[in-house]
Amino acid sequence: MAIRLGDIAPDFTAVTTEGTVNFHEWLGDSWGLLFSHPADYTPVCTTELGRTAQLKAEFEKRGVKAIVVSVDDLESHNGWIHDINETQNTTVNFPIIADPEKKVAELYDMIHPNASTTMTVRSVFIIAPDKSVKLTLTYPAATGRNFNEILRVIDSLQLTAKHSVATPADWKNGEDCIVSPAIKTEDIPAKFPKGHKVIKPYLRTTPQP
Ligand code: BEZ
Repeated sequence: MAIRLGDIAPDFTAVTTEGTVNFHEWLGDSWGLLFSHPADYTPVCTTELGRTAQLKAEFEKRGVKAIVVSVDDLESHNGWIHDINETQNTTVNFPIIADPEKKVAELYDMIHPNASTTMTVRSVFIIAPDKSVKLTLTYPAATGRNFNEILRVIDSLQLTAKHSVATPADWKNGEDCIVSPAIKTEDIPAKFPKGHKVIKPYLRTTPQP
């Protein structure tokens, strides 16, 4: 069954390029980014994994641990990592799960039979420290993901988990936010001392807390 927002991310133990990982234990108190790619030694996936490695400092800054799954085996992953490092000028610095039996792929519903019966789609799961799923995204094989969007959404998830705000369309870290509809307008000054604007009774903005 599909994984829905708020569900506890299914736990698993799997062999990875960085040893055997128990997912929940490995996550610890961090946020998690779990994503699938269709197959090893494919061009779009090579760029995506290179980009993930290049963004390590950005993920670390946000307390996020990245882990990738592919239905190829460990030997294939280890060979492919050399190509990723060489072509993307980076060093792969996160575990890639070997999932030839498709256990993780099936647990997370990453195979969409009408797209492909053998390969995973490009699934993305962002998981909070309490192990609940905060975001899911699905891209087709031919479209590489936008990792700036993944960082942007992590910023929004972390901000909105901490403050009673929402983030508007195309919001970027540092920009004005929307005051949660649950907050009464008369209570805004005490909660948001940086100021606020009432554009409509239901649309109130404030500088990013
Ligand atoms: C790729 O990563 O380039 C790719 C993988 C499967 C199908 C199409 C493209």
